[in-house]
Amino acid sequence: MLPDMKIVEEIEGSGGLGGLARMTEVIAALEHRRTELIEQLRSQRLASWEEIGQACGMTRQGASRRWSKQSQAASFGDAAAAYQRGRPSYPVSAVDWLVPGTAKSVLDLGAGTGKLTSLLAARELAVTAVEPLAAMREELVAAVPSADVRDGSAEAIPLDAGAVDAVVVAQAWHWFDPAVALPEIARVLTPGGTLGLVWNIRDHTVPWVAELDRVLHRHARQEIDSAPPIGTPFRAVERLEIRWEHALTRTELLDMVASRSYVITMPAADRDELMHQVTELLDSHLDLRGRKNLTMPYVTRCTRAHL
Ligand SMILES: C[S@@+](CC[C@H](N)C(=O)[O-])C[C@H]1O[C@@H](n2cnc3c(N)ncnc32)[C@H](O)[C@@H]1O
Repeated sequence: MLPDMKIVEEIEGSGGLGGLARMTEVIAALEHRRTELIEQLRSQRLASWEEIGQACGMTRQGASRRWSKQSQAASFGDAAAAYQRGRPSYPVSAVDWLVPGTAKSVLDLGAGTGKLTSLLAARELAVTAVEPLAAMREELVAAVPSADVRDGSAEAIPLDAGAVDAVVVAQAWHWFDPAVALPEIARVLTPGGTLGLVWNIRDHTVPWVAELDRVLHRHARQEIDSAPPIGTPFRAVERLEIRWEHALTRTELLDMVASRSYVITMPAADRDELMHQVTELLDSHLDLRGRKNLTMPYVTRCTRAHL
């Protein structure tokens, strides 16, 4: 439902800088009130993060990251090393598709430990990486020394207007507040620039992967929309799926599980039980037992849009 335009017009008055200043004040007051309302809904257990996210046009993860005192997104920092060891990279063909060949500069937003950043840095591109967590940035600087690594977030990008030809977001869009992040991304892009989103999704059509996911989801369910809507000022939204396999050792698979945000934030006893169940699966499943080296099948989902 659109807000009553009469109220908006009243705030704006005769427009100009005065109108802009009044609007800014009202937005700040509304944002403050929104936070209070969310705190009230949570403390009285009147709404879940899922429902609050829906009401705010965000995902559950995005809403809990923004307003929860015990932010799950912040939890990545606690497992940065396991993240770097256990998470897969991305297929080169995804990078080819997400970053136009004509681009000279690219921003990796929510860059984490630099899984995608290192693929970007291997090209003729000026690479900036923005990441809010210090522990992730430490891994990132070590993994990709040539990148310009900065503290910041999707909602407040530390770059000038029109600074980059392309923005890519790997496995992180669901943490952002799209209503704030989209205009912010548009601001730092050159006219005609591109926004690319990518997620590696485990291929559940393979029986042992389905079994692994059953074990993981017994403890927590993480729903991610890997083909999210991208609104104005972006247009010409396109999607691509790439199937591939990631070779990893048994230990790296355990690191991959341990680096999931919902696993990091679990009570220690639940986490121990979950890790025990995954180990049991590795020891007992016909396709896995006795194997040190494994291949995890992935479907990489990509979205691309133009400014
Ligand atoms: C699942 S990790 C993905 C990291 C990296 N892009 C990759 O592909 O491995 C999600 C990352 O998003 C970051 N993040 C969470 N909220 C963010 C926000 N609002 N703006 C920018 N980054 C954010 C987290 O700190 C974390 O490093």
